[in-house]
Amino acid sequence: MRKKIEKIKSQLLSGLKKANTLEEVENLRVEYLGKKSAFNEILKGLKNLSPEEKKEIGPLANQTKQKIQKILEKKKSEIEETFDAKEEWIDVTAPGKKIKQGHLNPLSIVQRDIEDIFTTMGFEIADGPDVETEFYNFDAINMPDDHPGRDMQDTFWLSKEESREKGTGTVLRTQTSSVQVRYMQEHKPPLRIIVPGRVFRSETTDASHEHTFHQFEALVVGDDVNVANFLSVVENFFEKFFGKKIKVRLRPSYFPFVEPGFEFDISCTNCGGDGCSTCSQTGWIEIGGAGMVHQNVLESAGYKRNKYQGFAWGFGLERLAMMKYKINDIRLFHSGEIRFTEQF
Ligand code: PHE
Repeated sequence: MRKKIEKIKSQLLSGLKKANTLEEVENLRVEYLGKKSAFNEILKGLKNLSPEEKKEIGPLANQTKQKIQKILEKKKSEIEETFDAKEEWIDVTAPGKKIKQGHLNPLSIVQRDIEDIFTTMGFEIADGPDVETEFYNFDAINMPDDHPGRDMQDTFWLSKEESREKGTGTVLRTQTSSVQVRYMQEHKPPLRIIVPGRVFRSETTDASHEHTFHQFEALVVGDDVNVANFLSVVENFFEKFFGKKIKVRLRPSYFPFVEPGFEFDISCTNCGGDGCSTCSQTGWIEIGGAGMVHQNVLESAGYKRNKYQGFAWGFGLERLAMMKYKINDIRLFHSGEIRFTEQF
């Protein structure tokens, strides 16, 4: 009897080794412990045994039954665990993971705002390459090789000295004014464009200077374009952009591609013109350069001299974003710092 019980146990254990599924384990349970199993026969036959045998076999049979049950349970939970790990099981009731949302850089937001405002005013948005020829960046806009105006900008040259001598150098464009003649060669007046884009200058960086920054150029050319038109367009733009009336101021200045040329200021959006630390107590903030397009520039675009007039400006995009969102360091825009962009 004892041997029988041991045999059943060892058969079951070797069967269990081969079992891989819950179903197989259950079949083994039925086979070895079920009603019709040999083991059950032993239990049922216990009552017919002699008292000595009963004493010996009874406890052994019961202990073995319990042991087997435990082993079967253990095997079942092992199978369940590996099943969980192997098969992807989706708990549809589990709370979802929050997806982290990306943020636009404030520069992109400001650029989109500007594009919206100008397209409603009938402007087109034009574009040009960041890597520009010396011709479009300088020569075409009235800055030939020997022009002192070239010294105004700290240029990143991409080509060797020899090609610069021949006038065929390439640069990282120093100004979006490089798109002026590019565009005019392809289009006839009347034209109205803005050119938002990245520009580069070999500058030492600080809280208000970056080597890589953005400008947005405007160019309006037609039969009858004057400074008053320019003023009304910019006043209109700034009022829409800042959502309040903004005073503008022109100061005479020099840029080779305009005549007359101006430095362009707006009333400080922080203090409204009374004077504060943002505007160094002057009440004004410098936004960029502007002027009436030089006839030499219109001529290099292929237009007849004195046939058209136009105005142009080049404003700093970072400057405007800094004023709108009260950002105090220009270097934050390109810092790649998520804690910065998350605020917009
Ligand atoms: N391109 C000039 C600059 O970068 C700005 C400017 C543009 C001035 C158009 C006049 C007209 O400084």
